[in-house]
Amino acid sequence: MQSIDKKYIYMNTIGCQMNVYDSERIIQSLQPLGYIESLSLDMADLIIVNTCTIRAKAEQKAFSFLGRLAKIKKKKPGIIIGVGGCMAQQEGKNILERVPFIDIVFGTHAVERLPRHIEKIASKRYRVVDVEMTNEIEELEHKESIIPKQQVEEISCFLTIMRGCDNYCTYCVVPYVRGREISRDPVSIVKEARKFVKTGVKEIFLLGQNVNSYGKKEELCSFHELLSRVNNIEGLLRIRFTTSHPKDLTEDLMRAFANLDKLCHHIHLPVQSGSNDILKKMNRKYTRERYVEKINQLRNICPEIAVTSDIIVGFPGETEDDFRQTLELIKLIEYDGLFAFQYSDRPNASASGLPDKISEKTKRDRLNELLEFQGHITKKKNRVLIGTDQEVLVEGFSKKELKNNTTSKGLTYQLTGRTPANKIVNFVCDDKTTDHQEMVGQVASVRIEKAFSHSLWGKLVKNHSSLNKLKGEKSYAA
Ligand code: SAH
Ligand code: SF4
Ligand code: F3S
Repeated sequence: MQSIDKKYIYMNTIGCQMNVYDSERIIQSLQPLGYIESLSLDMADLIIVNTCTIRAKAEQKAFSFLGRLAKIKKKKPGIIIGVGGCMAQQEGKNILERVPFIDIVFGTHAVERLPRHIEKIASKRYRVVDVEMTNEIEELEHKESIIPKQQVEEISCFLTIMRGCDNYCTYCVVPYVRGREISRDPVSIVKEARKFVKTGVKEIFLLGQNVNSYGKKEELCSFHELLSRVNNIEGLLRIRFTTSHPKDLTEDLMRAFANLDKLCHHIHLPVQSGSNDILKKMNRKYTRERYVEKINQLRNICPEIAVTSDIIVGFPGETEDDFRQTLELIKLIEYDGLFAFQYSDRPNASASGLPDKISEKTKRDRLNELLEFQGHITKKKNRVLIGTDQEVLVEGFSKKELKNNTTSKGLTYQLTGRTPANKIVNFVCDDKTTDHQEMVGQVASVRIEKAFSHSLWGKLVKNHSSLNKLKGEKSYAA
């Protein structure tokens, strides 16, 4: 058998979790050609940037990275440079014109075809643009034998259950760059989830632009049914998902939070604006009142659920009063956390044609005010947790403490993980008999002692009840 030369691929991923997942697939699919991932640009034989185009800033990030590659290409002309993902899908051959040293531009539906293109480029130098959108769901399926390399030994991993979006929010490019919404077969999703769990994964993050419309179009099972199937996987400790669209949040899904033991009590439910006028212009298909009603219903069913959201400030025509209504909604809901963005005009998205654009300064001011406003709420909500015991899925050692504990005598270890509500907890365990390394990947009970804006701090609880034993896992107590 002919041996394949080892080659290195450097991957730069910009954008959302779906791009992270796709980058994994790209790396895996190139393994049969001899490529292995490298974190060094200098060693790379192939550099791929997986791009995003959700806001203008994401594109600037990609072009500024590509700018850095000019020197590398000059020094090493044999290197292959590729641009994939959403910006590649949108811009196609324009990217080749703008950055002449690029070898391949491939879109969001071309990941499966990438190895063939790379093989051809390597043997016969020519440039490729593949932005064909086939809308075939098979492209999302993993080849039987492959386990994502990066995700081996990971505690938490992403799993894409659907692709594309049919909602056409007027500000958003996703339907144009990811295509029509298509859901994967639930059997293949569960199979992939089991494969992850076998490699040691404890938490699975189900991904889609609108996961709660999963399966509807294809008349597959419903999203809450899919959750319940994943919940049955032995050895899996936690399930999370993102993103949910408020209009598709059903009572059945709300009940899943109360009924499925592995489903984390956290929902990311982007509201985008607190003003009905703006919501209408955004084509979000719900009103502020309906949104609040759903959150109330959800909190009745699952009182401890953490709720986070996305907000866009400065949508065309957003008045001071519209913005105040958003702040009032934030106050009313008391989100556990928020992602807020300044509206950015996108080609294709219909809002780019709307009048009454908001100035950059106003957008910036509104964003800052909103973030400060939410900052107080987050802190307040985090402070409520002081004195409580939280179930923390331990992800590893916190970087800071690793530095402090380079001596063999360092007895205080600082571990880090997340609560079911997705709050980061750094905690210490000063017991010499505990195997700290073994705690990674387990759920520990941690008493919260301090609360900050972005994290909590605590101590491993002594003699805590057998949390993990209940789940058939090891129990840790200092
Ligand atoms: N499918 C998800 C999110 C997709 S994009 C959903 O429907 O919620 C993530 C977030 O980016 C969006 O929720 C929105 O808040 C923000 N976003 C999308 N397009 C934008 C634009 N043109 N300008 C600013 N923010 C935008
Ligand atoms: Fe974009 Fe709206 Fe689809 Fe989310 S639901 S991806 S914001 S079009
Ligand atoms: Fe960006 Fe594409 Fe995700 S535009 S946010 S990488 S779906």
